[in-house]
Amino acid sequence: MTVTENPFLTGNYGPVPDELTVTDLEVEGRVPAELRGRYLRIGPNPYSPPQGPYHWFLGDGMVHGVELRDGRATWYRNRWVRTDEIARRMGEPPVEGPRPPLYDSSNTNVVGHAGRILALTEGSIPYELSPTLETLRRTDFGGPLPGGLTAHPKIDPVTGELHAFTYWFAEPYCIYHVVDAAGRLVRTEPITLPRAVMMHDFAVTREHVVFFDLPVVFDLNVQPFPFRWDTEHTPRVGVMPRTGGDADVEWFEVDRCYVYHPMNAYEDGDRIVVDVPRHPTMFESAAELVEGPTSGGPPSLHRWTIDRAAGKVTDELVDDRGQEFPRVNESVLMSRHRYGYAARISNNVDAFDSAEYLKHDFDRGTTEVHDFGAGHHPSEMVFVPAADATGEDDGYLMGYVYDAASDRSDLVILDAHDFGAPPVATVHLPRRVPYGFHGNWVPDRD
Ligand SMILES: [Fe+2]
Repeated sequence: MTVTENPFLTGNYGPVPDELTVTDLEVEGRVPAELRGRYLRIGPNPYSPPQGPYHWFLGDGMVHGVELRDGRATWYRNRWVRTDEIARRMGEPPVEGPRPPLYDSSNTNVVGHAGRILALTEGSIPYELSPTLETLRRTDFGGPLPGGLTAHPKIDPVTGELHAFTYWFAEPYCIYHVVDAAGRLVRTEPITLPRAVMMHDFAVTREHVVFFDLPVVFDLNVQPFPFRWDTEHTPRVGVMPRTGGDADVEWFEVDRCYVYHPMNAYEDGDRIVVDVPRHPTMFESAAELVEGPTSGGPPSLHRWTIDRAAGKVTDELVDDRGQEFPRVNESVLMSRHRYGYAARISNNVDAFDSAEYLKHDFDRGTTEVHDFGAGHHPSEMVFVPAADATGEDDGYLMGYVYDAASDRSDLVILDAHDFGAPPVATVHLPRRVPYGFHGNWVPDRD
């Protein structure tokens, strides 16, 4: 296969060629004046055309940001994260910080914590970015992080702690970490697993941590991304008290599937509820192994109820529409959520071909659809609470929406409560933002 045939290098998956800084962006509608900060989202953007096989998950990371202030969209910036390899290719000195354990990447998530902006890829050391997206340094929170860090830490809205883990190809295959509200690594707990698996994300409740031991296993015979589907591997979830350790983890079998991202998890009496988009398979086909997740059927939304007393997990289909990139209002993260949000995606490589974005109401058992209109393709959106919020859905959803007709992207801000209404604001960006992974709103600190 030639490079030009790789679907993750064409259309809006394809990279943009350079870094832009554009100020005073054109806005349709009204940017709420209470939004003071920046929306940041990261994804793969190869610095130069890949030589040989290209896997979407391995592309050089580029962060795209829009600053909102005083009812205006003050700038758009896109910047490659200066991993050592990108710095070398750009003719810049490498940034300082702990050496990456093996894998030096920064393309999966960008998170604000303890006054720092962190760009993350699982298995790599976090990169700290400035509020204007310059790469400052690598950081291990005082360390050590022998296997790097997940790209999906969970920030406790009550304590400000950052809960995280890493998975690794050698023992210990999983390590749980806690970083305190001041940004210091305060806890490291190896977790016993039978073998190395791709553990992309995890879940945390007020009382427990939930690990996913699912059947995408590490295999160096698979290149360039050394993971494959394994029907011999028993799918399980592990529940550990937050105050406990490896010896306290209880494991429960689940139906064979793969989960990238839980929407949220919480205690319901003695049971633990975890809402998950469930992929029927992952990295099973030959094409997926080389390029990225291209098949395996649509991920539908399921509710796992872990009954620890009964020793089993109940799996309930919530919504059979294809959906991924689930989020909640993170002020209820780790506690019961009424609402959850997700991007509609299909089961093939053109995952973001839908114009729909979903809002689930778990109390009512209903789902609302926001339709961006033909040719407008949303991906992950993040929830930002309103300044005077009184309800869980009292706030905004924001994310990049690709406009195929103009081949450009917008930052779109929805009213999460009035979900089906036209956007509150549409910020026109100077260029398209390639489809990517995750992001967050990082408010100003004042
Ligand atoms: Fe992810």
